Amino acid sequence: MSYARPPFEIIRDPRAMRAHTEDLRRDGRTIAVVPTMGALHEGHLTLLREARKRADIVILTIFVNPTQFGPNEDLAKYPRDEAGDLAKARTCEIDLAFCPDASAMYPAGAQTFIEVRELQKPMCGASRPGHFAGVATIVAKLFHVTNAHVAVFGEKDFQQLAIIRRMVRDLDFGIEIVGVPIVREQDGLALSSRNAYLSAEQRTAALCLSKGLAAAEAAVVAGERDGAKILAAARALIEAEPLARIDYVELRDAEELTPVTTLSRPAVLAMAVFVGTTRLIDNRVLRHLG
Ligand code: PAJ
Repeated sequence: MSYARPPFEIIRDPRAMRAHTEDLRRDGRTIAVVPTMGALHEGHLTLLREARKRADIVILTIFVNPTQFGPNEDLAKYPRDEAGDLAKARTCEIDLAFCPDASAMYPAGAQTFIEVRELQKPMCGASRPGHFAGVATIVAKLFHVTNAHVAVFGEKDFQQLAIIRRMVRDLDFGIEIVGVPIVREQDGLALSSRNAYLSAEQRTAALCLSKGLAAAEAAVVAGERDGAKILAAARALIEAEPLARIDYVELRDAEELTPVTTLSRPAVLAMAVFVGTTRLIDNRVLRHLG
């Protein structure tokens, strides 16, 4: 269906967004949403381009969600550049940007949270208590407010994507979830807003994550199926890097996120590694099982 696209608009009020997207739906438009915390890079833009292919109206949301940050995390210093973000996003032909204030998303007295009980426990959930309840809750709210038919997320945050898919399934959200493969720098570093915190020396050290994943993948391609040995191949590269400190490196079932000791079906090798004080995550789904 071809129609005149509405002029680009920034909306900050959740009620205004809801009313606007209800009208769009009534007019028969399909809506895609890409939730972000801003500091947009090529990874986010790839999600926006994917969204552009899938719906009439593309909504970018920018909201640094306080409830998903722990007390000692980087909420206050998280990079913020709304004007720069919108300029980048508009090159991907978005229609609407939703940029609410924290007080608009969490009115005084807000006390309702969504917990995806088991999937939120391991991996990043173990070192960031409460993080995924904050993520699931804000994502549910963004789905409601934007009335989207489809939402696009990156596989970079593998556990987050698994949790959102399960929430959508368990709570009968009528929305399609699309996952997009990790976008990387040429040298392998996964793009992340937090890469901006790295010094030149730390930036080089950060390559140990993607190198570790590649080493594990090489072991699997060579026939290794023993989870402990696959993990050891990844850990060796990270442990050899003096600026890096492992938070976790784990092999998990790609859907249930349960531990995998012998590789017999697709599994995700997922890791979080501190480089200096910056916590970076990366993962790779290991499928070469033939
Ligand atoms: P943020 O870290 O800004 O990421 C927004 C989206 O971009 C997520 O779906 C994330 O997986 C994706 N993304 C980030 N880096 C990527 C890369 N290198 N390749 C592909 N996709 C990438 O994730 C969040 O924000 C928040 O938790 C949010 C879902 C917005 C809830 O607050």
